[in-house]
Amino acid sequence: MVEQTIDVRRVAGSLGADVFGVDLSKDAGNQVHDEIHQAFLDHQVLFIRDQKLTPPQQAAFARRFGPLNEYPFVKGLEDAPEIIEIVKEPDEKINFGGIWHSDTTYLDDPPLGTVLYALEVPAVGGDTMYANMYDAYDALSDGMKRILAPLVGVSSAALRRSGGRAKGIGEDSSMTPQNLDIAATIMAEHPVVRTHPETGRKALYVNSAHTVSFKGMTREESKPLIEFLCDHAVRPEFTCRFQWAVGTLAVWDNRCVQHFAINDYHGERRRMHRATITGDRPH
Ligand code: SIN
Repeated sequence: MVEQTIDVRRVAGSLGADVFGVDLSKDAGNQVHDEIHQAFLDHQVLFIRDQKLTPPQQAAFARRFGPLNEYPFVKGLEDAPEIIEIVKEPDEKINFGGIWHSDTTYLDDPPLGTVLYALEVPAVGGDTMYANMYDAYDALSDGMKRILAPLVGVSSAALRRSGGRAKGIGEDSSMTPQNLDIAATIMAEHPVVRTHPETGRKALYVNSAHTVSFKGMTREESKPLIEFLCDHAVRPEFTCRFQWAVGTLAVWDNRCVQHFAINDYHGERRRMHRATITGDRPH
């Protein structure tokens, strides 16, 4: 085990922090991982630069937060089946995750978090934005909080917007037409305001990629309030924007964060490895 001391520095007013002083390819020990975990709860998304990680090492780091699960519809790597590769080739126009979302809220037990590692990045562009759903909830009026308290959101995998239906995901051999039909039937119901199981804080839990309605209401009836909440959730003051470099690893908390992969680098290649940490049913 190697002695390491971490240094955590915030990157924006609402969420996000850089973590310095850790080499994740070495066994950093429980104390360092406890400090990283506390920083993860305090800042919602962490950026750890200059790492040299194999897929099994990335999976081992991700497992420090909990067991990993396989991403729906996408085949994992040979040497680390819990890691998927996200690639946008120079000739492709659609990216993976190019919409504000919290990951796979159409599952009954959506992921706790995500660990994303940059292997190839464009010269400029390809940043990822993050938004803090605690701050989004806290900024609502008491009247709106009362309206939202009993509401349940219905999420669907069927919207087929660019989040999660990128080329190489939706159109290659890992995603057959039958799988696409199955995707259309995958739905889950979650509270519109969820309580974070570790911090006890309330977070807004509605997103443009997957939330289609409120339980007991039609899509048309639900639409205006869903649209208001989705716009409100990503107000600039609740966000940070991260510029990737090769070797950067990010870990974010899907229970209180939305993210958006910016698609502004056509003609260049961007390649990432992604691990998904198993989560609990939101309450
Ligand atoms: C995602 O997980 O939605 C993709 C994020 C990214 O590639 O920046």
